[in-house]
Amino acid sequence: MAEFVSGQSKHDMLTVGNHDDLARQEFAMSLKGFTQNRLLPGLGPVFEGRVAPAFEKEHGQAPSDRHQIRSGMVDDPYFQTYALTNRVAQEMIWSSVQAPLERDLDAVNDRAAQLSSANAARLESAGDFAVPRYVSAIDIHCMPGGYSTQESEADVAAGALYDRGVYLYSMGMMGPDNDGMGRSVCLFVQNQLDGFQPSAILDMGCTVGHSTLPFKELFPDADVTGIDVGGPCIRYAHARAAAKGLDVGFMQRDASQTGFEDESFDLIVSHILLHETSGKAMPEVFKECYRLLKPGGYMIHADLPPFLKMGAFNQFILDNETYYNNEPFWGAMRDLDQEQMAVDAGFAKETVRFDTAPMVMPEDLAPPPEEEQEFVAGEFAPGGGWEVLIARKD
Ligand SMILES: C[S@@+](CC[C@H](N)C(=O)[O-])C[C@H]1O[C@@H](n2cnc3c(N)ncnc32)[C@H](O)[C@@H]1O
Repeated sequence: MAEFVSGQSKHDMLTVGNHDDLARQEFAMSLKGFTQNRLLPGLGPVFEGRVAPAFEKEHGQAPSDRHQIRSGMVDDPYFQTYALTNRVAQEMIWSSVQAPLERDLDAVNDRAAQLSSANAARLESAGDFAVPRYVSAIDIHCMPGGYSTQESEADVAAGALYDRGVYLYSMGMMGPDNDGMGRSVCLFVQNQLDGFQPSAILDMGCTVGHSTLPFKELFPDADVTGIDVGGPCIRYAHARAAAKGLDVGFMQRDASQTGFEDESFDLIVSHILLHETSGKAMPEVFKECYRLLKPGGYMIHADLPPFLKMGAFNQFILDNETYYNNEPFWGAMRDLDQEQMAVDAGFAKETVRFDTAPMVMPEDLAPPPEEEQEFVAGEFAPGGGWEVLIARKD
């Protein structure tokens, strides 16, 4: 029988800690929920009711873009309370997971090595790997040490921290296995690319493989590989896949320069990778996808929507991540013309488009009865979806 901790599926690599650690984790997740569900909805009325009128009085015009909205909102005490509480909750989430991991790290690393030996697919993590500075120089979304810090060649701490921390951070919205996004893209592939049967699949920026494993479940005969620049994440991913009984390969490689041969893959996907790269790296990632795809193969990048698809106030809300959650490329990436970038990388214009991969909701991700435990796509969630950029190599 599947077992859960605060709604997250237990597996042999998941590290939660003792009763006190769990209590802290659940408090931090609740605080995040309170901020998002109770404080965030108050920002609109505060803006309409007092910030916009004050801005107009001072400047003789209503705030017209997200930057002007921000310039008015930052001095408002309600906004300051929201932003502060959100940041505190975020830091508490990571520290509540980090504490038990630090106490138990040798055992966690040993368990990873042991489990990895049961995964028949490749594991590659190189000690001298050059991690791009945009990853190594900052603790993205306040995760202590980021994705690549390691104390030894066996260290999996960053992966373990991410696995538990991101479940709390997303308040369980990605489902018990944190794989809602991967499942959504799988569902999109099933529904939109009728009869497409890839034999080699690459997931770029896979972190611990949350979104990678659904592809192995959907295409069990395919060779599925996840790559990431974070060594500890790659090692954790390989062990986690083994804990879940799946032979999926994980390699420490840079998505902009993978080293794989031309035309190695039928399907290349990424999930919330692009906004964590850089203005220089992102076009290189697209070019690399084009080089790596076989003719007839697809590139699908899932991320949040570009700014031009939403109003200025929602842009401002989303852009808070840039300012208060150590996500330096979050806003800038949303202003780029990604479709043109795909064309510049070699994809024919008529094969490139944005689409929506309907979101698979947590209630659809609950484990099915044991006798039905095969790939379960879940139901389309009305209105909800992940923005995907899709392109085909002719
Ligand atoms: C938000 S996480 C992705 C989450 C993951 N795809 C999932 O669905 O669970 C972003 C990941 O991209 C990785 N990354 C950033 N730049 C990269 C690059 N050039 N090549 C490979 N991975 C990269 C980071 O190390 C990090 O693990």
